[in-house]
Amino acid sequence: MKFFIDTADLDEIRDLAATGLVDGVTTNPSLIAKNGGNFLDVIQQICAIVPGPVSAEVTATDHETMLAEGRRLAKLADNVCVKVPLTPDGLKSCKALSEEGTQVNVTLCFSPAQALLAAKAGASYISPFIGRLDDIGTDGMELISQILEIYANYPELGTEVLVASVRSPMHVVESARLGADVATLPPAVLRSLFKHPLTDKGLDAFLADWAKTGQNILDT
Ligand code: E4P
Repeated sequence: MKFFIDTADLDEIRDLAATGLVDGVTTNPSLIAKNGGNFLDVIQQICAIVPGPVSAEVTATDHETMLAEGRRLAKLADNVCVKVPLTPDGLKSCKALSEEGTQVNVTLCFSPAQALLAAKAGASYISPFIGRLDDIGTDGMELISQILEIYANYPELGTEVLVASVRSPMHVVESARLGADVATLPPAVLRSLFKHPLTDKGLDAFLADWAKTGQNILDT
């Protein structure tokens, strides 16, 4: 499963990209607003840090303007993936941009039917928001399962399932168990995946015992 990080914070992106675990980045208008800075500059800088797909979202709601914005964003770097909302105009723009060879991530997906429409519109990625479904008492992971089941029936569609609105390590583990293609993780969730108390405890014990030997690997 690929890991994208869900942030527009350049310091976080640099730091996490250095782990070698980051396959791409997703942003949205809220993340851009939270982080500040000129949108196009920020996207260009992210694209220079991470070679994988970098999602940049259009902010228009009508097809003509969305298409113009998508084309503008796509020119910023070869790895820009234009993000469009799951609306009729968004999917119309998805189809047009995909046919021009631009990667498109269809966002704000909350049902399997919507995911099927996005795939038919040529989306490179569909972004089901599982955390926001959990928030309203609906099982977000069940949506991932349903979309994967449907897409497996039609492999020619070629759309990857990008699990979004991820809130916890369990979301990541369950997505991987189901075979999702990608999960986009807030930096804190990616960092939390490293952690286990027994790892810390075991390492402390190894280092304490090693210190008793008085040796240094680099001295020999
Ligand atoms: C990613 O593409 C989405 O914009 C993001 O995961 C939404 O997450 P949220 O529901 O925590 O805002």
